[in-house]
Amino acid sequence: PRPLIIAPSILASDFSRLGEEVRAVDQAGADWIHLDVMDGHFVPNISYGPDVIKAMRPHTKKIFDAHLMISPCDPYLEAFAKAGCDHITVHAEAGPHLHRSLQAIRALGKKAGVSINPGTPPSAIEYVLDLIDLVLVMSVNPGFGGQAFIRSAVGKVSDIKAMTAGRPIDIEVDGGVAPDVAGQLAAAGANAFVAGSAVFKGGTVEAYNTNISAIRNA
Ligand code: DX5
Ligand code: ZN
Repeated sequence: PRPLIIAPSILASDFSRLGEEVRAVDQAGADWIHLDVMDGHFVPNISYGPDVIKAMRPHTKKIFDAHLMISPCDPYLEAFAKAGCDHITVHAEAGPHLHRSLQAIRALGKKAGVSINPGTPPSAIEYVLDLIDLVLVMSVNPGFGGQAFIRSAVGKVSDIKAMTAGRPIDIEVDGGVAPDVAGQLAAAGANAFVAGSAVFKGGTVEAYNTNISAIRNA
């Protein structure tokens, strides 16, 4: 089985203190740091880009798990690699050349991920399985934190678990993840859990530790 991973989404942190917030979730037991990049084009919101990620990089040694909600993505992959991202995940819906984008991420020496929106079927990743290290199943429509979990993601995780059987591929779920759904997602085959609002409520290292543990134990 793949290792159990909790990946707090920095999108829900206090942006005026990004360095401190990254250190706080690191100390609180985060496995990966999830970085939501939004361009106001692929998704209806704008977050931050490679320069901000580069500024966060010295604050932790944990894996930087970048989730690119941008289109096009190819012109920016090198910048995200150079900014210190360890995983670079692109959306299957972001352009016509998913296969090429994944090849480019691997050529940069980074782990490659593919994300699918709630309305996208698992078959979207069928022909890139040999090029990916992780699948990011969206359980909300991307663009904003704090949305309600879309239940069909559970069945989709099961389908992707079957599709990726025997391959070293992490199955990560993103959007509305809290202790109440984490157990079902794990039973369906997910091993990595992104959480924004469920981790950052409380505002202190102690609260983040309690929140991360609650998801881990679910
Ligand atoms: C949504 C982002 C998520 C989001 C998760 O577009 O990809 O990572 O920040 O936030 P919560 O856990 O609050 O749904
Ligand atoms: Zn995300």
